Amino acid sequence: MKLIDGKAISAALKEALAAQVATFPDKYGRVPHLVVVRVGEDPASVVYVRNKAKACEACGIRNTTIVLPEDTSEEALLEQVRSLNADDSVDGILVQLPVPKHISEARVIDTIAKEKDVDGFHPYNVAGLWQKTPHMSPCTPAGIMKLLEAIGVDPKSKRAVVIGRSNIVGLPVAKMLLDANATVTLCHTRTVDLPSVTRQAEILVVAAGRAKMVTADMVSPGVVVIDVGMDRDPDTGKLCGDVDFDSVAPKASAITPVPGGVGPMTIACLMENTVQCFLARH
Ligand code: GUN
Repeated sequence: MKLIDGKAISAALKEALAAQVATFPDKYGRVPHLVVVRVGEDPASVVYVRNKAKACEACGIRNTTIVLPEDTSEEALLEQVRSLNADDSVDGILVQLPVPKHISEARVIDTIAKEKDVDGFHPYNVAGLWQKTPHMSPCTPAGIMKLLEAIGVDPKSKRAVVIGRSNIVGLPVAKMLLDANATVTLCHTRTVDLPSVTRQAEILVVAAGRAKMVTADMVSPGVVVIDVGMDRDPDTGKLCGDVDFDSVAPKASAITPVPGGVGPMTIACLMENTVQCFLARH
């Protein structure tokens, strides 16, 4: 079994980006600028947003974090986004999800200028992924594809199974695997006899959001497992993934740990998208 070291792979990516960004002041007179907006105090979001700021520092990217109170009105948030859209010194805008329930996520995503949409969530960029026209790729799916490439796993003609159909991970990663010529099955909460489907997988991507839901009996020997989960173990309260690592790892040919697998890759891809937005604007 090979442990897929997302931390090391993402560190190499960030190092290459830092070297590239270091050349920008001479070439363009400034460095890229990412603005992250967090609304409220969701504990996971607090950690994610802090990690994004740290990664910016490591890459030499300018970062501004804007924290708005939980009771911020939708209109006030949209006005904040519009003002960032109009600000020429800003290259990338990310509104951390989830936003409080009284705010429409779709309206927020729609309002972010597509040229500054480092998340790749704007309808223009979503359509670009599905139509294969130039677009910003969503960070977590892009990070997963980079992990596979880094360990020398080519999805071509392989059976790939994805659990989870979210706009952020399941749906776009299924499309990317399809574009990489895998035969893709997309599973979800209404899938009948999930284990019989997952046992077919040569590549298994799990983005279900349920702690340790994939167990050893659900996988075949040699499977490559990508665990997107960020869950709490109900017994120990510790951070864990959607995959029961201890039982599945011995059967897998390669597997991501949680933490230290997909998470750092998401952030490295966000840095890459920020640089891409910056370059497209110059
Ligand atoms: N919340 C969880 N993942 C993400 C992400 O990739 N982007 C944003 N904006 N919010 C998230």
